Amino acid sequence: MRSVWIAGSVMIAALFASPLLHAQAKSAAKGDFQPYSGQPGKDVVWVPTPESVVNKMLDLAKVTPQDFLVDLGSGDGRTVITAAKRGARAMGVEYNPDMVALSSREAIKAGVTDRVKFMNGDIFATDFSQATVITLYLLPSLNLRLRPTILEMKAGTRVASHAFNMAEWEADETANIEGRQAYLWIVPAKVAGTWNLQIAGQARDLVLQQNFQMLSGNIKAGSEAVAVAEARLRGDEIRFTTIEKGIKREFTGHIQGTSMSGNLKSAGQPDQSWNATKR
Ligand SMILES: C[S@@+](CC[C@H](N)C(=O)[O-])C[C@H]1O[C@@H](n2cnc3c(N)ncnc32)[C@H](O)[C@@H]1O
Repeated sequence: MRSVWIAGSVMIAALFASPLLHAQAKSAAKGDFQPYSGQPGKDVVWVPTPESVVNKMLDLAKVTPQDFLVDLGSGDGRTVITAAKRGARAMGVEYNPDMVALSSREAIKAGVTDRVKFMNGDIFATDFSQATVITLYLLPSLNLRLRPTILEMKAGTRVASHAFNMAEWEADETANIEGRQAYLWIVPAKVAGTWNLQIAGQARDLVLQQNFQMLSGNIKAGSEAVAVAEARLRGDEIRFTTIEKGIKREFTGHIQGTSMSGNLKSAGQPDQSWNATKR
C-alpha cells in the first residue's frame, strides 16, 4: 500500500494535499496506460459504472459537501471525482496502481485535487470507518465480505451499490437507471434488547428484536403485552406502531446510544412524548 491511512477527520484532511496526486499522475503519464473494460483486478475485474448510474447512486445517498465518500475499488476514479464535484471530500481505494495514477490525472483535469485522494491498496485491508458514504461496484460475494464491517460503522452511514445487493440485508431504497439497478442501505443503529419505556410518566418495557433495519417485539405493562408492528430503523431514526384497545398508536423517535426519545401520535388524542433507556 503506497499511502498510509491515518484515522481521524483532521488527519484525513491532511491526506488530501495535492502533491501526492500530482506525483502519481506524473508517473502514469510516463507510460501510455489505457484501461479496458474487463481488465483483471485483484478480486473483481474493472468495468466502469456509467455516469448516469454514478449520479443516481450519489442522489440516493444524498451526498452533500459535509460528506466523506469512499469508493471501494475505485477504478478510474469517476465516482470519487463526481462526488468531489458535488463538494464532498472523497477517497478511492484501488488495487491497480495504474488505475490510481489514471484517477489522479482525471482529478487534476476535473479541478478537484483539494477534495480527493486515491489510495493504492486492498479494500479488505483499508480502514474506511470514517466514511459517511460508501459506494460499491464489486460482486455479491465481495459485498457480503464487506457487510460485517459496514454494519459496525456509525448509524446513518449510507451505502450505495451498483448492480449487487447485500443478500438478506434488504435495501432501504432502490432505483433502476437505463436497465441497471442501484441500491441504498442506511447503516442501522443497534437496538435489540429491553428498554425502559416512559410514556407520560407511565413505565413499560419495550422489548425489541432486530434483523438489520427490521424490528419486531412488544411493549409490556405488567402481564399485558402488545405487539409492535411496522417497526424499522433508518440509521438512528426508529418508527413502530401498536394497536391498543382498537386505537392505532404511531411512535417515531431518535436513538442516541443507550437512550431514545420521540413523539407518539394516537388517533383522536394530542401528541405525547416518549423516551426509553436501554436496560
Ligand atoms: C467493477 S470495477 C468498479 C470501478 C468503479 N468503482 C466504478 O464503479 O466505475 C471494480 C474495481 O475494483 C478493483 N479491485 C478489485 N479487487 C480489489 C481489491 N481487493 N482492493 C481494491 N480494489 C480492487 C478493480 O481493479 C476494479 O478497478
